[in-house]
Amino acid sequence: MATPHINAQPGDFAETVLMPGDPLRAKMIAETFLEDAKLVTTVRNVFGYTGTYQGKRLSVMAHGMGIPSASIYTTELIKDYGVKNIIRIGSCGAVTPDIKLRELFVAMGASTDSKVNRMRFNDHDYAAIADYGLLRAVVDTAAEQGKPVTVGNVFSADLFYGVQPNMLEVLDKMQVKVIEMELAGIYSVAAQYGARAVGILTVSDIIPTGEATSAEERQTTFRDMMEVALAAAIK
Ligand code: HPA
Repeated sequence: MATPHINAQPGDFAETVLMPGDPLRAKMIAETFLEDAKLVTTVRNVFGYTGTYQGKRLSVMAHGMGIPSASIYTTELIKDYGVKNIIRIGSCGAVTPDIKLRELFVAMGASTDSKVNRMRFNDHDYAAIADYGLLRAVVDTAAEQGKPVTVGNVFSADLFYGVQPNMLEVLDKMQVKVIEMELAGIYSVAAQYGARAVGILTVSDIIPTGEATSAEERQTTFRDMMEVALAAAIK
């Protein structure tokens, strides 16, 4: 019972899937953090694994880059493999230096310049939001671990290169402090097919200044994000 983009067997995925953008990151997470991790899908080298974390079944699979790619994988996971919880673990760029590099950002909502939600919503403006229970689990977990997080609205951009010149100012003014490329798609797919989703992001660059995290800083922040995501995933 494979889907066009996933060649796992029925039941191969846990109810909760952690989703980075990068397939090699999914492999690394499975090898580093999961016990008895088994590779369950390999189509297009978008690897997915299922193992256990502290005795609970957990999967990890990449969603690729951008709303179209992320929408395909999340739709098939939910609709065809019965996945109930999606936790995106990614990076974002800050639209203002008020947000600091390496900060953890939890996406309560996702605004977008993509048209996907208007296509779904009779051309009206759908508020793509995180599931409150998962959002709360992530925020509570971060607090228990003593890790500060910012919770807010993100911008899921279709363009990585060539964002409109005044867009950063508009976003800043509207309290949308970070840009990424998937959550407005993932949150609406979850709503459409009856699953829950949340996104946790590390700030990898400050867009107006060009400041970016070093490779070493990325490792540390990645570990912080993973500790929050894993503990929240099994709550
Ligand atoms: N734009 C979009 N997505 C991103 C960025 C960015 O600047 N940084 C990390 N993910």
